[in-house]
This record gives sequence, C-alpha cells and structure tokens, in this order.
Amino acid sequence: MSTDAIVLLKNDHKQVATLFAQFEKKTTTKARRGTIVTEVLRLLAIHTHIENTIMYPEVATALPEVKDDVLESYEEHHVVDVLSAELAGMTPDDERFVAKFTVLMENVRHHVREEEDEWFPIVRKGMSRTQLREMGARMIAAKETAPEAPTPPSALKKVIDAVVS
Ligand SMILES: [Fe+2]
Ligand SMILES: [Fe+2]
Repeated sequence: MSTDAIVLLKNDHKQVATLFAQFEKKTTTKARRGTIVTEVLRLLAIHTHIENTIMYPEVATALPEVKDDVLESYEEHHVVDVLSAELAGMTPDDERFVAKFTVLMENVRHHVREEEDEWFPIVRKGMSRTQLREMGARMIAAKETAPEAPTPPSALKKVIDAVVS
C-alpha cells in the first residue's frame, strides 16, 4: 500500500464521510448514532493530530504559497475540536445531540472540500513523490500514539505559533 501523505489523508476523509452518511440515514437508530459519533470523534482526533503536527507545519515550511490555507485549516480544526469536546460529554438522548453533530458534519465537509480541492493539489505539485511518501510513513507511525481526544486549545496554539514564526 502506498504511504503517500495525500492518499492517506483522503482515505481518512472517505472513512469519516461514510460514517456521516450512515448517521444521516432515516433508518439509523439512536443507539447506532451514538456509536457512530464516538467513532467519528476518535477518527477525527487522530486525523487532525497527524495533520496538525506533521503535514501542516511541513507543508507550510516547504510551500509558503499555502501557508494562509494551512492557517485557515488550523482554525477549522479548532472549531471541530470545540464541537467534538462538547459532543464527547453528550449522549444521543440529549436534545442538542443531533443538531450539534450536524454542525460538526457541515464544518468537516467544508474543511475537507477546501483541503482536497483547493490546497492539497498545490502540495501534490510542489512536493516530490518521495517527500510525500516519507511524510505519509511518519503519519502512519504517528497514528499509533496519537491522542484519541480533541486537541486542547493550548496545544493547538503551540503548533500554530511554530508555523507563524
Ligand atoms: Fe484532512
Ligand atoms: Fe484537516
């Protein structure tokens, strides 16, 4: 299997998109919705962690033309972290559960569209296959030890500060 960083991240996006579609199906039970949300929060925490700490800073350094896109992406991750932290404290019986997860899905879908359509193609062009493969291999390894909870604002600020400076 390829370890290409962009292929790897797009596969993660697909996995989450499939769970979103299952959540939205009219026939999906409340209990199953709860399981889906738990799994989505886990997958998003791991995915954003490897982007936050590996892909985003390295890409922003290698390709200054995507730095602004990376900074916007960090802020979108932050919004999803806030929603995720709130959802983690809720059950499917909560009257705000579906509404909150719906807003999370809207945010993630928007974010994924910007990554895949707007700036990942610039990364694909600007970095070599070897660079992308090597970065992907490190992201696969980092998944093993990635936190399964949303990134706290202080930790996110640290990675953003390193990109800005
Ligand atoms: Fe992503
Ligand atoms: Fe992202």
